Amino acid sequence: MLKKSIFCTILLLASSLSVMAEDGSKLWLRFGIKNRAKVICDGCTSSPTVTIARHELEQYYDGKAVKLTIDKSIPSDGGFEISGTRDNRLISAGNETGLLYGTYALLRGDTIKGLNRPVFKLRILNHWDNLDSSIERGYAGTSIFWNKAMSIDTARIREYARANASIGINGTVLNNVNASPKMLSRPYLLKVRQIADILRPYGIRVYLSVNFASPMGLGGLPTADPLNSKVQKWWKKKAKEIYAEIPDFGGFLVKANSEGQPGPGDYKRSHSDGANMLADAVAPFNGTIIWRSFVYGANHKGEDRVKQAVSEFEPCDGKFRSNVILQSKNGPLDFQPREPYAPIFDRMRHTPQIAELQITQEYLGQSNHLVYLAPMWKEFFSFVSPKNLAGIAGVSNIGNDANWCGHHFAQANWYAFGRLAWNPALSSRKIAEEWLMQTFVADESLISMMLRSREACVDYMMPLGLHHIFKFDHHYGPEPDGFKASYPIEWCPVYYHRADNKGIGFDRSTKGSGATAQYREPYRTQYDSITTCPEEYLLWFHHVPWTYRTLSGRNIIEEMQYRYDRGVKEVEDFTAIWQAMRDDIDQQRWNEVNNRLHIQLKDANEWRSTCMDYFNKKKSGLK
Ligand code: GCU
Repeated sequence: MLKKSIFCTILLLASSLSVMAEDGSKLWLRFGIKNRAKVICDGCTSSPTVTIARHELEQYYDGKAVKLTIDKSIPSDGGFEISGTRDNRLISAGNETGLLYGTYALLRGDTIKGLNRPVFKLRILNHWDNLDSSIERGYAGTSIFWNKAMSIDTARIREYARANASIGINGTVLNNVNASPKMLSRPYLLKVRQIADILRPYGIRVYLSVNFASPMGLGGLPTADPLNSKVQKWWKKKAKEIYAEIPDFGGFLVKANSEGQPGPGDYKRSHSDGANMLADAVAPFNGTIIWRSFVYGANHKGEDRVKQAVSEFEPCDGKFRSNVILQSKNGPLDFQPREPYAPIFDRMRHTPQIAELQITQEYLGQSNHLVYLAPMWKEFFSFVSPKNLAGIAGVSNIGNDANWCGHHFAQANWYAFGRLAWNPALSSRKIAEEWLMQTFVADESLISMMLRSREACVDYMMPLGLHHIFKFDHHYGPEPDGFKASYPIEWCPVYYHRADNKGIGFDRSTKGSGATAQYREPYRTQYDSITTCPEEYLLWFHHVPWTYRTLSGRNIIEEMQYRYDRGVKEVEDFTAIWQAMRDDIDQQRWNEVNNRLHIQLKDANEWRSTCMDYFNKKKSGLK
C-alpha cells in the first residue's frame, strides 16, 4: 500500500514537473498519465511492437480495458479499426504495426468509425544528415543519427520512432542525398543496423542514400560505370552485406548527375542504366531503388531549368526495373513557397513515382518563420492525385534541438506530413486542430493563424509567381539583384524574375521556353495564355508588361505592392494573436514563439522593402 502511494506520488511529481518544463521536447505526445487500463492481446505475441502498444495504453488510455486483436480479414498494411465503448475498447488490425497505429489513434482521440487504412504505401522521411553530424538545410541542431564519435543516443532515436509511429510514418532515409561513399563502409553499416533495430518495432524500415561512385570512393575500382561487370559485382556484394545485417532494409535513395553528384551520365549511360544496375543488386532481397529526378545543368544544360527533369527522364519511361521508383519534388524548380506542380507527374506513365515534399523550410523562413505547410501540400494533391503516387517522402526538419524542429510550430509540419501521408484527404484545418489540441490548445485564432501562414509567406516573399529571388547559398533573405558570373545561371535570381524597364516575369509559354507544353490539359492551355493563367502563377509563366492590369484593376507594380503589404500585415496580425494567447501557454514556449514571430515580422518587412525598391528601380530603367 505504502509502496503504491509512493509510486503514485512519483508519477504525479513526474507529470507535474513535465508540465513546468515545457521545452517542446515532447512534441504532440503529451498524454497525461491515467489510471492503468487493462490491456489484453488476442492472437498476438508479446513481440516488441505489441509491448509498446500495451505500454502506451496501460499508461495513457483513459478507460478501463482495451483488447488488441489480430484480425486476418484486415489487410496487413497498417490499417486498423477501433470499436467498442470508452471503457471497453477493441482495436483490430491485420498486423501488429496496425495495432500500434490504432493505439496512437485512440490516444489522440480519433473517432473514425470503420477501417482506417493508409492511402500511401510508402510514407518516408528523408534526412539530409551528414556523417559529421551537420544537416544540409537543417535548422534544428545536429543530426540525431550521426556524429564524429559514432555514438548512438538510443533514447532519442526511440522517441523519434515513437513520434513517427504515432503519425504512421513507415520508412526513413538516414543520410543526405549528397551522400558520402563512407556511408556504406562496415563501421557505418553496423550503426545503421543498431538504428534499424531500434526503429523496427515501431514499424519503420531504414533506407540509405548512396553515392553512385561508391565502388570507386569506397571499393577502390577505377570506374563506377553501371555496365561494368566489376561495378555490378561490387554493388551485389554490398547489398548482400547490408541485408545480412538488416534483413528488412528498404533500399537505396540516389541523387545522380545532379548538382555535381556522380551518376551514370559520367559514362554516357542513362538514368535507367544506373537505376537498373542497383535494382538488380537489391532485387534478391526485395529491396527498392528510389531514384531522384531533381536534375538540371547536366545533359540539358541551357534549357529552362524547370523543363529539364521531363527532358531527361521521359525517354527512360518504361525502361526501369519493377523495383525502381522515381522520386520527384512537388514543383519543377526547388521547394519554393509556391510553385505550379511538377509536370513530370503527368509524363511518366510506366514508372511509379514518389512525391518529395520539403518539411524543413529551406525557402520558407527556415526555423524562424511560422509557416504551416499542410495547405501547400494539399494544393499539390489537388493537381497530382494521390492515386497516381506510390508513396510520399518528406525532407525532415528535425535535429538535436530540445524541441526537435527549432520552431515549436515547425513540429506541426512534421505532424502534418505524417497525417497527410496517411490520408491526403484530411483537411489542413482538421490537422491543425488535432496538432494544436495535443501540443498547445485548439484555439480558433491559432488555427486561423496557421491556416493563413503559408499564403502570408508567399505574399511577403514572392507574390504573383515570382520565384528563387533568395540570397545565395543559404536561401534565407531576399536578393533579387543576385548575379555571380562564377555561378551556374540557374542559381542567380536575375535569371528568374527577368525584370527590366518594360516588364517582369519568365516567359515559359510556347512563345518563350515552352515549359507550359509539358503540362496535361486543361493546364497546358490555361497556363499558356496570360489571360487565363491563374494570377498566383503569372510571373512564373509569363513576362508581363508593367502596364498589365490584374483582375483587381491594379497594374503589376501596384499589385505587387498590395500583396507585399498584405503579407506583412498578416504577420503583424500573427504577433497580435500570439500576444493574446500569453496566459494560455506556458511561458517558455510562449516566449520562444514570440521571439521568432518578431524575427518573422522584421524579415517580412525586409522582403517587402528590398523587393519593392529593386523592382521599382528596374521599372524606371535604373540599374
Ligand atoms: C536544393 C538544396 C540542396 C539540395 C538539393 C537537392 O537545391 O538547396 O541543398 O541538395 O536541393 O534536393 O538535392
